Amino acid sequence: MELARKLEGKIREVYDQVRYMLAVSGEIVLSQVSLQQFFSGNRGVDLLLSDISFVDPFDGLHYRGFPIDQVLTKLPKPKGCEFPYAGGLYAFLLTGEFPTLEDALEVEDTWKEKAVIPDYVIEILKTMPSTTHPMTMFSQAILALQGQSKFAQNYSNGLRKEDQWKVTLEDSLELTAKAPALAAAIYNIKYGNGKIREIDTNLDWSANFAHLILKEWDLQYQDLCRLFFLVHADQGVGNVSAHAACLVNSALSDVYYSCSAAMNGLAGPLHGRANQDCLEWLLKILHGFNGTLPSKDELEKFVWNTLEQGKVIPGYGHAVLRCTDPRFIAQYEFGKKYLADDDLFQLVDMVYQIVPPILKKQGKAKGIWPNVDAISGTLQYHCGVKQFDFYTVLFGVGRMLGITANLIWNRALLLPLERPQSITLEMVKSRLHDTSDFSGMNPDFHY
Ligand SMILES: CC(C)(COP(=O)(O)OP(=O)(O)OC[C@H]1O[C@@H](n2cnc3c(N)ncnc32)[C@H](O)[C@@H]1OP(=O)(O)O)[C@@H](O)C(=O)NCCC(=O)NCCS
Repeated sequence: MELARKLEGKIREVYDQVRYMLAVSGEIVLSQVSLQQFFSGNRGVDLLLSDISFVDPFDGLHYRGFPIDQVLTKLPKPKGCEFPYAGGLYAFLLTGEFPTLEDALEVEDTWKEKAVIPDYVIEILKTMPSTTHPMTMFSQAILALQGQSKFAQNYSNGLRKEDQWKVTLEDSLELTAKAPALAAAIYNIKYGNGKIREIDTNLDWSANFAHLILKEWDLQYQDLCRLFFLVHADQGVGNVSAHAACLVNSALSDVYYSCSAAMNGLAGPLHGRANQDCLEWLLKILHGFNGTLPSKDELEKFVWNTLEQGKVIPGYGHAVLRCTDPRFIAQYEFGKKYLADDDLFQLVDMVYQIVPPILKKQGKAKGIWPNVDAISGTLQYHCGVKQFDFYTVLFGVGRMLGITANLIWNRALLLPLERPQSITLEMVKSRLHDTSDFSGMNPDFHY
């Protein structure tokens, strides 16, 4: 495969650079941790390596050094379509080079060969209780495929260290190939008649999701799928899902174990599930006003009410971003073009004007701007995918592109078992030189 050949050359180059840096500057301190950061999930501490993507607090997500609006423009697209092939994005994330159309199609064709889901996985999904959350089904289905792992099979037979990335690439292509079909199977089992379709080999990876849920006629939805999967593909490796995957993989657990773990993290309301929660919240507003848009004053009151109940405004705020998320903007542009008259989209727009100043006034959240989840569900809902507990699965399909790209590189660079040290509270106290005497602490002091 041309992609593997290209990747091999890049890997050699980067591997040598890392070894050289370690040899000559191994003792240089890259980052320090304050007590505040220690108790705040290590926010802002430079601890992890990823060349695949980077989140700039004021400029948003970059894939391979390029802001996503540029990535959207520069990647090859299917004829007559607005958004690019996911196969081209994958080649780009892996190699850092903008792919040609042939490069993109190579990945797309490889995915087509590997897209079929074994029957036993479908049976597992069908036997799960109908109340099971689609993210549980997704994580379970990925785990059920683990027996296919080339990494695991080869490791038992004495896999050479320098070949780890090659079998990780094989596993990654195998799993990502199946991701849209897995998601569609869950969709059809949970909300439809349970019939499983075969992929359409004339369609690309993203559009095939539309085909598999019987929306092949909807060209606008196919393009939305391309956009949706692209903007959700990666976000650095410090976020919960990517970090979970990298951590698990550092124990040489294969891509299937790692991605299943990632999906369990993505399922959390502070992470990927925010898209489900956001749409639920928006619909609650519309229903509360008998299906009509509230006035500005009414909406402000509703937002304050949500905050006063101790809830977060879903889709707003971010652990890193201090600006409007460019992934929000890319989807917002799609909305302006195709669903400007939709009440829900207009509500998204109103919320966009109203929430940031309110969060600023409340003074708690450091990031007050919309993130990717503030709008993604609205676009899906408009296009007829109305089952909003399913939206995080779609996030997961896209996110597996970035996660697996990171895993391939982590194995290529032979990053070791991740093992930060934990310390006791007494040890923490002993390092606080000026306030280490807690005996005088006011017993009535409650934070
Ligand atoms: C994304 C998120 C988890 C980041 O968390 P974080 O890094 O801890 O954020 P901050 O440091 O800005 O949070 C500080 C405070 O502001 C609050 N805050 C942050 N975002 C908020 C929001 N959207 N609505 C209300 N309050 C919010 C936090 O709950 C926290 O309050 P606390 O001190 O009482 O616990 C947070 O902004 C959030 O929960 N957003 C809503 C869920 C969401 O959209 N998630 C998807 C992220 S891509």
